Amino acid sequence: MTGQPEFRRYLVNIDSIPTQQLFTDFLVIGTGIAGLRAAIEAAKHCNVTVVCKGTLKDSNTYKAQGGIASVLEKTDTFESHITDTLNTGCGICDESLVDLVIRQGPQLIEQLLRWGAKFDLIDGQIAITLEGGHTHPRIAHAHGDETGRIIAETLIKKVRQNPNIKILENFYAIDLLTNDDNECIGIVGQDEHGGQIIWAANTILATGGAGRLYRETTNPQVATADGIAMAYRAGAVLQDLEFLQFHPTTLYIAGASRALITETLRGEGATLVDNKGQRFMKEYHESAELAPRDIVSRAILAQMLKTKSTHVYLDVRNFNKEHFSKRFPQIFELCESFDIDVSRDQIPVRPSAHYMIGGVKTDSTAKTSIKNLYACGEIAATGLHGANRLGSNSLLEGLVLGKTAGQSASRHKKAGVSGLKHPPIKYQIPHSDRTRLDAADVTNSLRALMWRNVGITRRAQPLIEAQEIIRFWQRYVMDKIFDGQQGWECQNMLTVCLLMAHAAEQRQESRGVHFRSDFPNTDDEHFKKHIEISREL
Ligand code: FUM
Repeated sequence: MTGQPEFRRYLVNIDSIPTQQLFTDFLVIGTGIAGLRAAIEAAKHCNVTVVCKGTLKDSNTYKAQGGIASVLEKTDTFESHITDTLNTGCGICDESLVDLVIRQGPQLIEQLLRWGAKFDLIDGQIAITLEGGHTHPRIAHAHGDETGRIIAETLIKKVRQNPNIKILENFYAIDLLTNDDNECIGIVGQDEHGGQIIWAANTILATGGAGRLYRETTNPQVATADGIAMAYRAGAVLQDLEFLQFHPTTLYIAGASRALITETLRGEGATLVDNKGQRFMKEYHESAELAPRDIVSRAILAQMLKTKSTHVYLDVRNFNKEHFSKRFPQIFELCESFDIDVSRDQIPVRPSAHYMIGGVKTDSTAKTSIKNLYACGEIAATGLHGANRLGSNSLLEGLVLGKTAGQSASRHKKAGVSGLKHPPIKYQIPHSDRTRLDAADVTNSLRALMWRNVGITRRAQPLIEAQEIIRFWQRYVMDKIFDGQQGWECQNMLTVCLLMAHAAEQRQESRGVHFRSDFPNTDDEHFKKHIEISREL
């Protein structure tokens, strides 16, 4: 990619000798399901340090509503779950990985139950429900629509109880450190006490998603794609960055955050209607409200255009109100807080950015292309989802591949690779004379640009324009030395947005969540493959 400002390996000046230092066998960055599960696994063998930029609860996992997909009932089969995943992935899933993840699901969910996760039960069996693209009910849920919170709290408790695990909250990981052989040797970061270096024999990236790159998103504030940007600067291979999944139904009320309105509502009978009260999904797909997410999102946009409206509605009035309040307590409360009576009113919704399918390329053991660096969860591009993710397959992926990452990193350590020496690191960025900068303003403009130009429907010209604008912003943002999170996040977001727009421009076809109005068909001949990106080392 040309026209970028001069590449900076690190975002900050580094002088390791006077900097506070910590040593650990395993470093886990991020505390969603994948990071926590990886930490628990790795701590069986060695000491583990877990860092997260907010609190342990600030993750997409914690906010997950619908549930975790797995084969949990006798009439369902692994083959059926595998087929649904492959069909939704539109031809570019890694089939052996799909097999591996899906077959491990039931036992790891059982383990979560034993660890105290209170999944909703019916007659002593895990209750399951349906989401789009699944041909069988297989979505396990907990406390109704608070599945993520229940799973996260179970894992957080385990992590807190483990004497081998040290937790550093409000620790911002700025960059991965690499040695002359481009092996990962830890990170440079910052917490309230200032800059710190954590030297680690193995580092596991589990920093989560990238929804905050878009103006409209279900994701929490922390989801700014820092891990992808760090990995890119360190030279890791990235993959599938054009595949960002939009969730069809997020609350659309002025003043409300774009809260997720779970797909399991549609799985249990909620319908989508336009501003004239007409159901419309049947016009777009035979599975109507339960079509794959990309189809529902595009149908909603088309219907909004047709009816000249800013949103559509989710009609839940067929639910018994008391049942609704118990089955979907979070959404019930949210609706009440905006005076929406679910037995009388429809819920205004529209799509928003939800899940990053692409990220840091990993193999089936969670290894990245950089030695001693692993990735799991939303940041990892494993090939499980192909070009489109089946709802609730991501908590499953985080659980299975989080465990795998912890396991394979500890095998690596046992093989004696942990005896890394740490030569001092010194890195000096040239001083920039340019004027001061309002990073928040750049970030807001960037998120609006991504929504407009790299959104649900894409086309060459807006994608090219987005890259030009981002490059222009980069010219005066990337040479700055920031001393806090807002500036570093802005630099990371500019980095990843440019790569995403570039990948989206490259894929001149439509496949899964990537829809090009100028190339509306799937082109297997040229694009039944992954787009990989890495900086030249
Ligand atoms: O609709 C939902 O509850 C979302 C589930 C998911 O993204 O996996």
